[in-house]
Amino acid sequence: MSTDNTKQRVLSGMRPTGRLHLGHLHGVLKNWVELQHKYDCFFFVADWHALTTHYGEPDLFDDNVSDMVIDWLAAGVDPDKAALFLQSKVPEHAELHLLLSMVTPLGWLERVPSYKEQRERMRQKLDTYGFLGYPLLQAADILIYRAACVPVGEDQVPHVELTREVARRFNHLYGRGPGFEETPRAVLTEPESLLTEAPKMPGLDGQKMSKSYHNTIGLREPLDEVAKKIKTMPTDPARVRRADPGEPEKCPVWSLHKIYSDAATQDWAAKGCRSAGIGCLECKKPLTEAVAAELQPLQTEARRYEKDPGLVQAIIKDGCGRAQTAARQTLSDVRRAMGLC
Ligand code: TRP
Ligand code: SF4
Repeated sequence: MSTDNTKQRVLSGMRPTGRLHLGHLHGVLKNWVELQHKYDCFFFVADWHALTTHYGEPDLFDDNVSDMVIDWLAAGVDPDKAALFLQSKVPEHAELHLLLSMVTPLGWLERVPSYKEQRERMRQKLDTYGFLGYPLLQAADILIYRAACVPVGEDQVPHVELTREVARRFNHLYGRGPGFEETPRAVLTEPESLLTEAPKMPGLDGQKMSKSYHNTIGLREPLDEVAKKIKTMPTDPARVRRADPGEPEKCPVWSLHKIYSDAATQDWAAKGCRSAGIGCLECKKPLTEAVAAELQPLQTEARRYEKDPGLVQAIIKDGCGRAQTAARQTLSDVRRAMGLC
């Protein structure tokens, strides 16, 4: 497949830091699957981004890259519609990053909220040049595809904002050649954030689902283990005995009902909880079924790809080729605009 020039482009990336879980499925992947029908999509494994914080762990990439792409494919991301690729195999990102670094004031990077926060949390380890520059690397990721839209969570919006500022500054500096003396031409395209609307996926303990909280359900976890995890989820502590009524709002199981259950089931669970008409195990049953129904077809797909690593490699290679073709075009315009040949 080649890229489609009539559609606007969407670009998004994910760090390869382990197998994906329901939080990724609901927060990111379902959205990608929707977007791939409307946009010319580029989705990539951000291995260079992972190095900005995990540079001491070269083993990180062994299985994580193809594992993550398998999770994407199993969730329904279609390699004929979207180019799936590996950032470090498209070194044009790095050249654009370098060129943009010439015109990006240090203060813009120092002000990025994720930089300030993470640096305070992990002081020593993150005092690197790469870590400071990573939002600019992200800007290069986006700008090199002239992406119109970037699907992101709220925490990434400042990065897209930085990307817009960098593009504006670049166009201001270099967009003025012959015929464009008055209004500079847009060598680089200012992208928009596409805020993902999905509600935060609650984890097994009611906090946000996240690997670091050990409260996840993995996309490829065996279904009997998933069932066990749900069975042992904590509930409203007031329900010590079966006859004790509870309050759904104090129960992480209820948070999952809000995502997985229809209105009738939710009503049944809430009433049954408050009146002690149902037990907690009963309340969890429709959830176990809903999660299993969601994961089963995904796991069947994943197994198909697990058995055929060559196919996964071929998909990534094809995606890299499509990405590189698009990236080279932008880079050649950028070089020319900056006076390089
Ligand atoms: N920074 C993102 C993250 O840490 C990943 C990422 C890298 C990205 N480049 C991107 C996301 C470009 C969207 C667009 O999750
Ligand atoms: Fe939670 Fe359901 Fe038990 Fe109520 S009945 S405490 S909502 S698991």
